[in-house]
Amino acid sequence: MRKTFLLLLPAALLAAAAASPPPQDSADSARPGTWPLEEIRAWLETPGIHDPFLPESPLGLPEDLSEFIPADNPLTRARVRLGEQLYFDKRLSRDGTVSCATCHDPARGWTDNAPVSTGIDGQKGLRSAPSVLNRLLGKTQFWDGRAASLEEQALGPIGNPIEMGFSPEEAAERLNAIEGYRLQFEAVFGGPATPERIAQAIAAFERTILAGASKNDYYERALPWFEWDPEEEEDEEWVEIGLRILEEERQNRMSEAARRGRELFFGKAQCSTCHFGPDLTDEQFHNLGIGLDRPDAAGRAAVTGKDEDWGKFKTPGLRNIALTAPYMHDGSLATLEEVVEHYNKGGTPNRNLSGNIFPLKLTKEEVRDLVTFLEEGLSGERPPVRTPRLP
Ligand code: HEC
Ligand code: HEC
Repeated sequence: MRKTFLLLLPAALLAAAAASPPPQDSADSARPGTWPLEEIRAWLETPGIHDPFLPESPLGLPEDLSEFIPADNPLTRARVRLGEQLYFDKRLSRDGTVSCATCHDPARGWTDNAPVSTGIDGQKGLRSAPSVLNRLLGKTQFWDGRAASLEEQALGPIGNPIEMGFSPEEAAERLNAIEGYRLQFEAVFGGPATPERIAQAIAAFERTILAGASKNDYYERALPWFEWDPEEEEDEEWVEIGLRILEEERQNRMSEAARRGRELFFGKAQCSTCHFGPDLTDEQFHNLGIGLDRPDAAGRAAVTGKDEDWGKFKTPGLRNIALTAPYMHDGSLATLEEVVEHYNKGGTPNRNLSGNIFPLKLTKEEVRDLVTFLEEGLSGERPPVRTPRLP
């Protein structure tokens, strides 16, 4: 399988890559040697940067994120900043042309806006790069859930011959030859870079990449207050809280169309059967009839070995979904209209189609409203584009 890609794909892809340079503000532009050694030394002496901290939780995510941070990989400023550099550093790929940010670019909703991703030597993979926003909430990683943690996930692309094409051991060796990295690994982990420590630092950084505060979050928070009358409230503190919640909803109000779309999402269209909770996913695997003529059609079954999992893929979160076209694990649906039409027609019939996928009988107007909700209601705050300085 892999051999076939290696032989067939590169030439056409290199041409395609040359035709579409990344946008100017792409964060896939971090440059080696832009963070001088003496500044790195001073940073590592900064008081507090080695103390554990919890990321601030945006509206809509669980307030206390401590349960999502594993005890053996606590977040510290120094560890997160090290992981951030590794995430953007192309030296983690064999030929120095690809970083995590190449395929999960902050300037493109932390994905690459391509149907499937292109790794070193212009080689194409089979699947569409998911966004890495809110991955700390994910119970499993990858479209088929084959990695249990972000630590386990992170080494996958480095070693994958068509993504970064290195081995994690070789990557560690390369980092240890760079003084600015050697100093940081020493200060953060008490020793040189190893595959395990690289994975821990990258995972720590990813756990700080959070998205929330969408119009839908403001609306949901305000729902219980809409019928409330401040005149009848005796507790002054509650009056203040209630008025603030209503005011913030007013400032972030969804259009009428988006509100109608929201009703459909949680009602007639039954999207919330699978898309619910803080990241709008049940973290389960379902067969919608997508990409079943492709070589990786087994999906979840490739991990569990169970025929009942054939063609199932992980329900993705839907925050900021307007930014991450094209859609589905194979990138086969170009727009959110196409996605909603796929559900509206009842998916693509096959021997294992989910029982929760059936014709929805949405009118043209309803399809439009649902798309408006996805675009407008679910977009919100996300971390700014970053271009870290590198040792
Ligand atoms: C060549 C493009 C490419 C590169 C480079 C790359 N990724 Fe990915 N990434 C993908 C694709 C494609 C998938 C989905 C693969 C699958 O599910 O089988 C993915 C999946 C993921 C996931 C799982 C997300 C989810 O919703 O389950 C995470 C997290 C992730 N990548 C982080 C990283 C990190 C960290 C790096 C750098 C060490 C990296 N990626 C490098 C393309 C890439
Ligand atoms: C039976 C569970 C289920 C239901 C019901 C469901 N979804 Fe999904 N959704 C999924 C799964 C699983 C995927 C990924 C499928 C794949 O790639 O093969 C997905 C993918 C998506 C995507 C693409 C996300 C991305 O990052 O590519 C969007 C958008 C979406 N769903 C919106 C909706 C809407 C809108 C509805 C209601 C009309 C809905 N879903 C109903 C399970 C479901």
